[in-house]
Amino acid sequence: MGGWQQYSVVNGNEPGALRQVDTRQIPLSAYLGAVGMPGVTAWYGLVKIIEPKKGETMLVSAATGAVGSAFAALSRARGCRTVGIAGGPEKCSYAVNELGFDACIDYKRHPNAGSLSKALKEVCPNGVDGHFENVGGMVLDAALSRMNPFGRIAVCGMIAGYNGAPLPLTYPALILVSRLKVQGFIVTEQMQVWPEALAELGTLVATGKLRARESIAEGIESAPAAFLGLLKGQNFGKQLVKLI
Ligand SMILES: NC(=O)c1ccc[n+]([C@@H]2O[C@H](COP(=O)([O-])OP(=O)(O)OC[C@H]3O[C@@H](n4cnc5c(N)ncnc54)[C@H](OP(=O)(O)O)[C@@H]3O)[C@@H](O)[C@H]2O)c1
Repeated sequence: MGGWQQYSVVNGNEPGALRQVDTRQIPLSAYLGAVGMPGVTAWYGLVKIIEPKKGETMLVSAATGAVGSAFAALSRARGCRTVGIAGGPEKCSYAVNELGFDACIDYKRHPNAGSLSKALKEVCPNGVDGHFENVGGMVLDAALSRMNPFGRIAVCGMIAGYNGAPLPLTYPALILVSRLKVQGFIVTEQMQVWPEALAELGTLVATGKLRARESIAEGIESAPAAFLGLLKGQNFGKQLVKLI
């Protein structure tokens, strides 16, 4: 929020402007990822919009990123089958072997939504009850096709369209036919949940149940390239820029 700069002046009296953090069990950088805004984003979409029940199947796109990796730990903690969608075999094996996903589908192996949908059917044999959308386009089309009746979709991001390209939805009638709840949200408008969400996320990190990777670019001059890399999936986990 302070801009792309090395130093900024903030009003310390403004709620949330400054936060004292404890680095004894949680690394400092995690407060910008799993125990910060991205973690709360996953928490809000899962807990307040999807409202998961034990034994249900949860799906998340951009699964290995800052938000997706926190989503996995939170979903597993609620006893849900947790399935991810990510780009490339390396990210998918990291999702299963390190983040604890039950399965992860590499969307880059699928030329269209139909093919991705078939792959999702194999790893979600009971359908999908909750979907957390970070991407849009083909990924959302495929996820929609696997939703169970009365499923819930938290619309968090549409990164496939951040370059301005239109992201049409191929079968919006599925929202009606499957009686879905589809809700977008902006995490900074939900400050009331931050303390509860951060407490759970902090415990998950401190107890080793959430160990998200980070991609660290060095120096402010590397920030533009790091940002563009996010839009190409070049980051592995939370993208950070180390200033000093
Ligand atoms: N609503 C809110 O309040 C809120 C708050 C925070 C973040 N967000 C959104 O949440 C999403 C995830 O954020 P994050 O910080 O955790 O980012 P991230 O997942 O760490 O990084 C973005 C990832 O998106 C994937 N991606 C990029 N371009 C794509 C494309 N064209 N098609 C498919 N996948 C693509 C890439 O993963 P792959 O290599 O796996 O494709 C990339 O690594 C973003 O859409 C962000 O805007 C929303």
